[in-house]
Amino acid sequence: MDWAGRKILLGITGSIAAYKATWIIRQLKSKGAEVQVVCSTDALGFVTPLTLATLSERPVYTEFVRSDQGEWVNHVALGLWADLMLIAPCSAHTLAKMAGGLCDNLLMAVYLSARCPVWFAPAMDLDMWKHPATSRNVNELISRPNHRMLGPASGALASGLSGVGRMSEPQEIVDAMEQWWLSTNDQARPPVLDTWRGKKVLITAGPTREAIDDVRYISNHSSGKMGYTLAQAFLEQGAEVMLISGPVSLSPPQGLQSFVAVESALEMHQAVEKYQEQFNVGIFCAAVADFRPVHKKDGKIKKKDGVSPIALVANPDILAEIGRNKRADQFLVGFALETENGLAEAARKKSTKQCDLLVLNHLNDPGAGFGLDTNQVTLLSNMGITELPLAPKIEIARQIIQHITKCYFHS
Ligand code: CTP
Repeated sequence: MDWAGRKILLGITGSIAAYKATWIIRQLKSKGAEVQVVCSTDALGFVTPLTLATLSERPVYTEFVRSDQGEWVNHVALGLWADLMLIAPCSAHTLAKMAGGLCDNLLMAVYLSARCPVWFAPAMDLDMWKHPATSRNVNELISRPNHRMLGPASGALASGLSGVGRMSEPQEIVDAMEQWWLSTNDQARPPVLDTWRGKKVLITAGPTREAIDDVRYISNHSSGKMGYTLAQAFLEQGAEVMLISGPVSLSPPQGLQSFVAVESALEMHQAVEKYQEQFNVGIFCAAVADFRPVHKKDGKIKKKDGVSPIALVANPDILAEIGRNKRADQFLVGFALETENGLAEAARKKSTKQCDLLVLNHLNDPGAGFGLDTNQVTLLSNMGITELPLAPKIEIARQIIQHITKCYFHS
């Protein structure tokens, strides 16, 4: 692909991963892009301006004024010049400043002036990444239009510890850019990729309600956020998305091919069966109630009638049934929310329900659970076991889709 004329502002901040930015510059330049580096002063402790300027073939900007040449660096012009701003590595400090809108250096002034999409690749130690302040800042940034977070990855950290916080590999960052350039001619649009264009994705989401009488029901705490976010992320990839949802307080994302609101497991089952033949990928994210009352009482059970047991009967296992009947070209994704023996239970469900991918949620992990905007999941597929770090649900959704893409198209 020809990158000629693409203008990329590369923000580099104070992290040991700054040395990897040199590789990003080389790659972008070799593809024909123009790269303008803007650094924080801390970044220059890790990589020299001479290296960055030589690789990018442009002066490196750090200060508002280049005192040696009596020149003012026009941050507004830089912000308007770029097609894409990438901040890699993005330190915890810069992340916080971006979230708060602080402007204490040239890089932040450029960020605040930029009208183009802003991508950032966090790099920090694992405890800094896990800190609630960082989670809040990440959530804030990720919810802004045209902002996209890449990584961070899990692995060895400069501190000697190992965990989540490593900057994404430069190759992955460059690949993500390439995919994005390929998919859009209009940089003002949020990225809509072509990967899944023409493919149909069925998603179940939210809880089900099993009526006891006309006013009471059995249900669970599922908010539907993960399923709705997956629907959103698949729409970004050009897929035709059919969303079947239990009762939640979310608005369905725009652009769905169809949306079916259901109440009970039986209704959800019926709706899924209608689409059973059509979908290429089926994602069963709903927290379906396993049992329902044998008889629903008309009207309201009255207190004066006294305590009486409620007889229950098993609901159909929708995913298991689809798994039994699926065609070889259909890809099935199940979810499992576990409180103990997570991996073993997830592996069992993957096999008994005949899923191609099982997404394990650990209810006990901080940041993962009902109603939150973040999640932490483990993926079990034919590619092995992949742990994704705690991240906003939209980022988790994109990574799950990346994984499905690899399994579906390349295996
Ligand atoms: N599932 C389904 N229909 C059901 C129950 C579950 O389609 N009646 C799907 C869920 O959407 C999820 C997967 O099966 O993708 C696993 O759900 P989970 O509740 O974790 O599994 P169960 O088989 O119900 O096992 P248990 O409740 O004992 O953990």
